[in-house]
Amino acid sequence: MRFTVTDLLDKKKQKQKITMLTAYDYPLAHLIDEAGIDMILVGDSLSMVVQGNETTLPVTMEEMLYHTKIVVKSTKRAMIVADMPFMSYQVSVEEAVRNAGKLIKEAGAQAVKLEGGREILSQVKAITEAEIPVIGHLGLTPQAVLRMGGYRLQGKTEQQAKRIKEDALRLQEKGAVAIVLEVIPSELAQEITESLEIPTIGIGAGPHCDGQVLVIHDLLGLFERFTPKFVKKYASLKDEILKAVKQYKEEVEKGEFPDKQHSF
Ligand code: KIV
Ligand code: NA
Repeated sequence: MRFTVTDLLDKKKQKQKITMLTAYDYPLAHLIDEAGIDMILVGDSLSMVVQGNETTLPVTMEEMLYHTKIVVKSTKRAMIVADMPFMSYQVSVEEAVRNAGKLIKEAGAQAVKLEGGREILSQVKAITEAEIPVIGHLGLTPQAVLRMGGYRLQGKTEQQAKRIKEDALRLQEKGAVAIVLEVIPSELAQEITESLEIPTIGIGAGPHCDGQVLVIHDLLGLFERFTPKFVKKYASLKDEILKAVKQYKEEVEKGEFPDKQHSF
């Protein structure tokens, strides 16, 4: 049985931390699931860490469906959350419900995640009414990079903080089952966490959230174009991979590989 929406709420009530990581393909999804992580996010960060784009804006519904299908197929235990990509829910409530439905029905996700607060309340309500669990995302919302003028700390001013707090409450009211809080001050994240019945899942939002999420490539040291302050690198796979590939190249060029042991 996979981790469910009920488990999510139970963990908050019992003050147990919720764990979430991103994955986009079989090798990592399978290992993350085996390690017992509660939730796997097929994030639109795939645009950056898998497709090599500068932002999350280019990734399409078709690409999200493709990666979500693979992650669902590769896992047994984690709840699979699919990000709704840029322009798949902003245009109309009808398009939002239809696209959320595809991520569930065609790709097999158990929940969808949408960025934004007051702008998308009717979408959150309608998707929830279609019996699809919705996860919100507030603070630094990467799909708004052009409006925000870069990836920077959100909720710094009192006015901004008030807006994020209100948005969190409104998302809960419309049926969201959890909210990701990205790159906001720890105290603000704590206030929001205490004001909500649904769990908060933080990334660069301090230790007081009900759960934490990171992009797996950041955690593993695989994506090093830049490393934000909130990322902790638990491994340096980039160095490992470079070393292995260079050694292979050298051994092939010298005629050392394949040797007798690796030949028939
Ligand atoms: O796309 C993503 O990886 C995300 C997380 C950073 C929360 O939305
Ligand atoms: Na995302």
